[in-house]
Amino acid sequence: MTDPRTPSPYERDDGRWFVAPSTLVLEGEVISRRVRDVPVAVARHRGRLHAFGALCPHQGSDLADGILEPEGTIACAWHLWSFEMSTGRCTMIEGASVPVFEVDEVDGDIVVTLAADDA
Ligand code: FES
Repeated sequence: MTDPRTPSPYERDDGRWFVAPSTLVLEGEVISRRVRDVPVAVARHRGRLHAFGALCPHQGSDLADGILEPEGTIACAWHLWSFEMSTGRCTMIEGASVPVFEVDEVDGDIVVTLAADDA
């Protein structure tokens, strides 16, 4: 659960979206936030941030409740579909995937880029 004192996501002057302070996603952690009504999960794995759709395409579980796996995948908490965090591809069900988003850290903040048609 996100600390209620954490600011809600907002659009920055550069068009990217503030998601959370960097300190909210430490190594091995994953959070989800609604960014412009898009459910976005952000995880840190082996020092690298990943941003991907937080809604499992199977039955809609929040992937931030899932299990980060050593090989860079996240397993959904409900029925264990597993997704590559870097590509969004499901490793178990052919054709299933979640979107991935560009993510950066800027001055201690995690920011993501959403395409105009992400919704
Ligand atoms: S809801 Fe995610 S695997 Fe079923």
